[in-house]
Amino acid sequence: MNALANNPTAQAVDNVLIYIFGFSLILLLGITVVTVWLVIKYHRSKHPEPTSEVSHSILLETIWTLLPTLIVLTMFWYGWTNYTGLREVPEGALEVKATARMWSWTFEYPDGQRASKLYVPVGKPIKVQLISTDVLHSFFAPAFRIKRDTVPGMETYIWFEATEPGSYDIFCAEYCGVGHADMTTSIEALNEADFAAWQQPKATGGEARGLAVMNELGCVGCHSLDGSEGIAPSLFQLAGQKRNLASGGEITINAEYLKRAIRDPNAEVVAGYDPMMPAYDENTMNDADLQAVVDYLLGKVQKPVAPKIDARALLENNGCIGCHSNDGSESIAPTFKGLGSRQVTIIRDNEEKTIKVDAAYLRQALLNPNKELVKGFPAIMPSADYLSDEEIDALVQYLLQQ
Ligand code: CUA
Repeated sequence: MNALANNPTAQAVDNVLIYIFGFSLILLLGITVVTVWLVIKYHRSKHPEPTSEVSHSILLETIWTLLPTLIVLTMFWYGWTNYTGLREVPEGALEVKATARMWSWTFEYPDGQRASKLYVPVGKPIKVQLISTDVLHSFFAPAFRIKRDTVPGMETYIWFEATEPGSYDIFCAEYCGVGHADMTTSIEALNEADFAAWQQPKATGGEARGLAVMNELGCVGCHSLDGSEGIAPSLFQLAGQKRNLASGGEITINAEYLKRAIRDPNAEVVAGYDPMMPAYDENTMNDADLQAVVDYLLGKVQKPVAPKIDARALLENNGCIGCHSNDGSESIAPTFKGLGSRQVTIIRDNEEKTIKVDAAYLRQALLNPNKELVKGFPAIMPSADYLSDEEIDALVQYLLQQ
């Protein structure tokens, strides 16, 4: 069906689909053609008087009874054998435990390693045991044509085998609350050497361990680390802060509170949030990991430093330099040289006006370039509104220093 479909489970599903669809198409066309032909052949104009030519043909009736029965039985047989193939996990499969919760996935390997993406080696069958800690979710990997509900209190499973390295989508296919649409991750199929390298124990001690645990367990799916509030309180700079509790009263955030908030999250919910966080017991997060997370939250969560934007590269990569020179020469557009200290005459509402170039003007000149044109230049610059806010800011700062 498509380039990804050469893996065993996809092939099993696709073959049956094509088989059933093919027969359906042939029958649809056949029946339509015969119907039209009969309508024409027995049109009233050719047979003005009702006749009684009706007789029957044992041969014909036998054929049109047996043939469809056989076809439907082959569809069943073909579908059944392929379906059982989807349920019988091949020998030597790697077993991975997938835990679904509102609203993230965690994958746990036999050696205890955990990850938020499903890393698998190419060419080896993978058995995924599906567990839910709260409500119904559904593990759906379209490239492998596999989908199975994760049911609280029940263990379900699915298997697949990646035949080519690559990244394949995983969705939650069962509506499970406000975060449902974000409950996505991926199967990362690695070749043998890359997978072996990935399996090597990672050196994560101290604070790095705390962050790693939170990523593995999907905490950051609901709790931001940068101060933005979403469906759960942000974890940015918590130490010593006070919070109102939904039950009334106030707490000061310290190690004891954070530990309780992880082990028994719904006992003391921060005001304004719903009690919906699953509890993390010793089996999910052992005491050492709990301590690492708490240490990380109390001391180390700082606003992530935004990657530095290279404004000069932005100007070059977006073709600005094609019209605006850096060296003071002017052709079809004003030069960037000396921009930060320049007075320019602009046309605003059909009137000339002299202004000093500042951040506000540059921002407008980037986003809405033809609104206030510098006198003497044609209105030909496209808007740079496809750049992010941060990129625009970086450009404005850079240009002011020219
Ligand atoms: Cu989980 Cu939808």
